[in-house]
Amino acid sequence: MKKIISVVLRKGGTGKTTTLMALADGLAIRGEKVLVIDLDSQMNLSMLYGNFHLKEKSIFNVLTEKSFNIYDAIYEIPIDYFKNIDIKGKIDIIPANSYVDQLDKALDEMMRKEERLIRAIQKLNPGDYDYILIDTGPINVTNIVITNVIVASDEILLPARLEELSYKGIELILPRIEMIIEEDLNPELKINGILATQVIGKRKNTNDNLYNRLKEYAAKKNIYLYNNYIRNLEGVPAKQLAHESIFNPKVFEKDVIKKDGTVTKHRFTTQSEIAKDYNEFIDEFLEREERKDA
Ligand SMILES: Nc1ncnc2c1ncn2[C@@H]1O[C@H](COP(=O)(O)OP(=O)(O)OP(=O)(O)O)[C@@H](O)[C@H]1O
Ligand SMILES: [Mg+2]
Repeated sequence: MKKIISVVLRKGGTGKTTTLMALADGLAIRGEKVLVIDLDSQMNLSMLYGNFHLKEKSIFNVLTEKSFNIYDAIYEIPIDYFKNIDIKGKIDIIPANSYVDQLDKALDEMMRKEERLIRAIQKLNPGDYDYILIDTGPINVTNIVITNVIVASDEILLPARLEELSYKGIELILPRIEMIIEEDLNPELKINGILATQVIGKRKNTNDNLYNRLKEYAAKKNIYLYNNYIRNLEGVPAKQLAHESIFNPKVFEKDVIKKDGTVTKHRFTTQSEIAKDYNEFIDEFLEREERKDA
């Protein structure tokens, strides 16, 4: 059964796209079939997965054209995105393109304008995907595109940087979520949790004051805060620019000297630090999923 999870936060640059891609890649590597949908007019997700913003069809067609076949806007992530990881056909994308900028206005003129996305998703075969992950931009929560995303989601994940402005970003979205639940537009909607990103400090048990503040804030609001957090690591933008998954291991060959003195070449693989952080988060995410299903 598919589960729809979105990243929404009224604050730019908090790691929404990076987290969504890491979650999609990590779930795919663990054998899940994933569809990612880009609903950010900045088109970052579409660009980073391999310039899908240049494709002919996009989420704009899906949401605005009456008899559009959603499958015509679904593209497969190419295998060279996963170098040295043998998975094929596990992630598909519905990209954004430059038309997405006009989506808010286009939707405003339509009937049942808040339900366009969920109705489109319902046209997919239930067995096609295990997870549908939706990326959004840092825009106003009253925006119709964001409302469509919240209405379509089973759960909302909140990737937050450790700064006061991130709490503000969360504060701004909570009343909107409550309103959508109360109005019966999506009564079962849940907040999945807050994931702290770009944390400066060590891998476990950071002493960062701001992290402790976020802990207190999450407890007060009764929102789950992930125990695992993502550190601020230099390699992240580079991997993204190279259009490759953060989980691609580094593969290198090294001479190994045997006891008898002969030298042979051995192949080694290492995981990047960012992959370690996101793997721990995804394991925690999946443990919680299992508990929910039990
Ligand atoms: N853990 C990290 N360590 C270092 N840099 C990071 C990390 N996570 C994200 N970044 C970088 O920070 C920038 C913002 O990240 P990202 O694009 O994921 O944020 P966003 O919330 O999607 O932004 P927007 O609101 O504009 O969509 C990017 O340049 C990204 O490469
Ligand atoms: Mg983004």
